Amino acid sequence: MSGGPAAAVRVDEARLTGLVEQLARVGAQPGGGIIRPLYSPAWREAQDMVAAFMADAGFDVREDAVGNVFGRLSGDVDEPVVLTGSHIDTVVHGGAYDGALGVLSAIVAVQACAAASGMPRRTVEVVSLCEEESSRFPANYFGTRSILGLVGADEPEQLVDAEGVTLADAARSVGLDPARFGEASRDDFDSFLELHVEQGRTLVDSGLEIGIVDVITGLVWVEVVVEGRTDHAGATVMTNRRDALQGAARMVAAVESVALQEGHPAVATTDVVRVYPGGANIVPGRVEFTIDARHSDSAVLDRMLTAMREHCEAIAAERGVEVTVRALKETPPRDLDAGLRSVLRQAADACGASWRDLPSGAGHDSQTMGTRVAAAMLFVPSVDGRSHSPAEYSTPEDCARGASVLATALHAHAWAPLSAE
Ligand code: GLV
Ligand code: MN
Ligand code: MN
Repeated sequence: MSGGPAAAVRVDEARLTGLVEQLARVGAQPGGGIIRPLYSPAWREAQDMVAAFMADAGFDVREDAVGNVFGRLSGDVDEPVVLTGSHIDTVVHGGAYDGALGVLSAIVAVQACAAASGMPRRTVEVVSLCEEESSRFPANYFGTRSILGLVGADEPEQLVDAEGVTLADAARSVGLDPARFGEASRDDFDSFLELHVEQGRTLVDSGLEIGIVDVITGLVWVEVVVEGRTDHAGATVMTNRRDALQGAARMVAAVESVALQEGHPAVATTDVVRVYPGGANIVPGRVEFTIDARHSDSAVLDRMLTAMREHCEAIAAERGVEVTVRALKETPPRDLDAGLRSVLRQAADACGASWRDLPSGAGHDSQTMGTRVAAAMLFVPSVDGRSHSPAEYSTPEDCARGASVLATALHAHAWAPLSAE
């Protein structure tokens, strides 16, 4: 890692903006927003487009066994690869920047470094990760986990989408062979740098240009199932009901109160509510809903989960319904690499960009990469802090400034001569 002052490397703003606009058309919905679920036709088109951008930039391009796309510039020293990039899958009606900006910024950043200094000293690869969001299957960080060899052997056949399609069948539909998924695993890189939009308001509110992430929040996804009793909506008196939805509604409110009581940065969101059997004239017999709860301190997150469970059980007892509360997945908080964060700070200074350290309330591939390699992230401002929404937007100037900071950091990390170590 370079110890000396970083020399600024600037990216071409118009080129980055053009790439963002082109990729944003893939999976764009008539009513607004982008939908690119893992292994869908739009996902396939997006990865092919990114591969073409990488080839245009002069990189050696390959796709791995799970559909991660890599663009490589080979270095001349025998040191671990430096990886940079993000993801191109989206949430439902997501924006054009979440993930995509990190992939496209990495392409223009590496290209700018090569234009400034020729081939790198250390091999650099840009990666377009195939699935970060749980865009289709409850399988977030699937691309990253595949690279790190962290995917469970039964996941491809066990995980199903809302239509009951297995992840394995979905992969086959885009020409991938699940029997070869294990081939995506690699251990030849030691660092990961990811640019992302902030997705919150810290930078816009503080009037600063770059965020350098110190910790990524811990997250738990929970499924709550409430079992009551179906009855006739007209003939069953109000005092003789076991209405699963009335119980669930109070649980949903209790989940919010737990996060509010804990205070910032605790957050909790309830979603994916399914009511059975469904019908205006039937007292609901079963309700399923999800909780997404987050905190950057795992002890607090555990405490939140316990409180939510206790509230749900107390409400169920009070209302004569049954409840089960089951954790679907947990991702612990992750401190990012101090050395790479320092490279990012120096790069921001070299670019004349104002910056601050900040935590990430969103989950990111860096969180999982950081379990094995040195990982660091920089944020660019999100206008109005909007994200996971068609309203997500970052200005071309902010995107290009962030990509220049990324380029400068990559240059210091992978191009700088050994004498600068
Ligand atoms: C990913 O975007 C997440 O934080 O849910
Ligand atoms: Mn996201
Ligand atoms: Mn993202």
